[in-house]
Amino acid sequence: MIDRSEDQSVNPRALTAPTIGDLIEARLSRRVFLTGAAASAGAAGLAACAAPVSGDTLAPGVDFAEIERAVTEDIAVPEGYDADLLIRWGDALFADSPAFDPMNQSAAAQARQFGYNNDYIGFIPMETREGEVVRGILCVNHEYVSTALMFPGVASGYPGSMTAELCATEQAAHGGTVVEIAREPGGSWRPVVGSAVNRRITARTPMVLTGPAAGHERLQTSADPTGREVFGTFNNCAGGITPWGTYLMAEENFNGYFLGELPEGHPEAQNHARYGVPGGWYQWGRFEDRFNLSAEPREPNRFGWVVEVDPRDPASTPRKRTALGRFKHEGAESVVAPDGRVVLYMGDDQRFDYVYKFVTRRAYDPSDRAANMDLLDDGVLHVARFNADGSLDWLPLLFGEGPLTEANGFDSQGEVLIEARRAADLLGATPMDRPEDVEPDPASGRAYVMLTNNSRRTADQVDAANPRANNNNGHIIEIIEPDGDFTARQSRWEIIVRCGDPNDAEEGAVWNPATSENGWFGSPDNCAVDPQGRLWVSTDGNPRTGANDGIWALVTDGEARGTGRAFFRAPVGAEVCGPKFTPDGRTLFAAVQHPGETDDATFEQPGTRWPDFSDAMPPRPSVVALRRTDGGPVGG
Ligand code: FEO
Ligand code: CA
Ligand code: CA
Repeated sequence: MIDRSEDQSVNPRALTAPTIGDLIEARLSRRVFLTGAAASAGAAGLAACAAPVSGDTLAPGVDFAEIERAVTEDIAVPEGYDADLLIRWGDALFADSPAFDPMNQSAAAQARQFGYNNDYIGFIPMETREGEVVRGILCVNHEYVSTALMFPGVASGYPGSMTAELCATEQAAHGGTVVEIAREPGGSWRPVVGSAVNRRITARTPMVLTGPAAGHERLQTSADPTGREVFGTFNNCAGGITPWGTYLMAEENFNGYFLGELPEGHPEAQNHARYGVPGGWYQWGRFEDRFNLSAEPREPNRFGWVVEVDPRDPASTPRKRTALGRFKHEGAESVVAPDGRVVLYMGDDQRFDYVYKFVTRRAYDPSDRAANMDLLDDGVLHVARFNADGSLDWLPLLFGEGPLTEANGFDSQGEVLIEARRAADLLGATPMDRPEDVEPDPASGRAYVMLTNNSRRTADQVDAANPRANNNNGHIIEIIEPDGDFTARQSRWEIIVRCGDPNDAEEGAVWNPATSENGWFGSPDNCAVDPQGRLWVSTDGNPRTGANDGIWALVTDGEARGTGRAFFRAPVGAEVCGPKFTPDGRTLFAAVQHPGETDDATFEQPGTRWPDFSDAMPPRPSVVALRRTDGGPVGG
């Protein structure tokens, strides 16, 4: 979501955190070369620690003809690839889904159709034929709605033009979609309309809070005195699929959905300020008390969690897993550690917020799905401290340990989790440049951290892990878990690339010199590791560098480490989310989010009318399936 994190939440440590303050001391991967003007302009100190290590083996490369950096209204893929439009905002999911009519939208119709602004994509394979995955369950988050682009005639009179029905339609366009998809061998993916697994989850779907914070007084409202029953989920950004095949929906910028003012002297004032509540992005609070702080001051505490959904059972109740902490969750990708425990990596996407990892107490049982269904209710949440010597401490958020005591206002583990940000502040976590996706690679024992950008970091706030002031284009960190033990309390870290234009000396970008004019990018957001262990990065903010967002392959091993390669270009105004490979590596699903959302764009005058290019249709957020025309693995 472009620049929506410009909200007013305040990390008190952003101004006081210890700084290294010296770029020369900033750590940089010893295997990354300097390239472009940065190599000769003011980066001599970096060059000294950027020498290549001999003896590295060349990692599997990527083999495709790069696309060009450009601003276009359509998408682009390399020669020899196809992009199939899989599903669009408004497309039918059920036999009774009304046909999409943008001029006559309703909450009832939207709740039976694919939602708006697709973000996370999960894929659960169901059938393989002739070596190809041909059927599976797609789980897609609908992060937010672009009100001005979604409804005719609303932008000119906003916010007065919003009605209760339009707000209800927005709520029905949020949440997630579970949909079966299938194809013939060699053919295109299509949604299976009316499949028994198909489901829409919206901002009104009944769900429950579970884990240590469930039932806590600070989660109780006048509508729910139990503190355990919530309606809906929203701003579901990235997410995850667990080893036992459940779908995790991460609640990110929940603050934006609340209006109103807290009663004078209310005890939630400091907590809400730390999370930027109320954000006031939507008008829902005018029509519904639970989105109005004056009426329901604790309702925001019931959002900012990770929601677990069983996609095989459309009647199941989604569960907000409070053990994973409350913050602006970007994603929740998991991996099984060597001892069988499950580890989830999570970013808190805000300038100067943190990277987390959760370790379950019990081990995953691959032979008993039911035994895993509540694994996420019990475990230890940790927050990352990136040390200047390349070590990384995972600090446990445990009530009663260190500063997380009654003396600091915590009465229980539940309260530590409700105020996870404040707990992490007290532990001394490292404030990062907007942590987005964090993706573990089970084969290599590494996890990749996308740090999208942080234009507010000043020169005296730089540190080893966030080495640039005014970091407009972000960077990518690799976490190396010792001996592949993802549960480790101490890890190592390195920066793989500093994003942005390597030809701009002031930018301080660092790429492998093999990176072409098209291969560099800005604002990494989501990522995927393919079955060959190669990293693919999608962006949200690359337009600041003069070209559309897209997907790039990024080599992480060997002499080519730090080389980017341009693979997919989104239409103007869109970011790219989701990227997800099928297990055979032959399809890469990509979520094209907010196409046409250029400055001042409206329903009547969008930045593009992708994908229909019809005057009768607004732009439609859609999932595309990227495949090689010869059916081979994506990327070679
Ligand atoms: Fe929803 Fe942090 O992107
Ligand atoms: Ca984004
Ligand atoms: Ca994101």
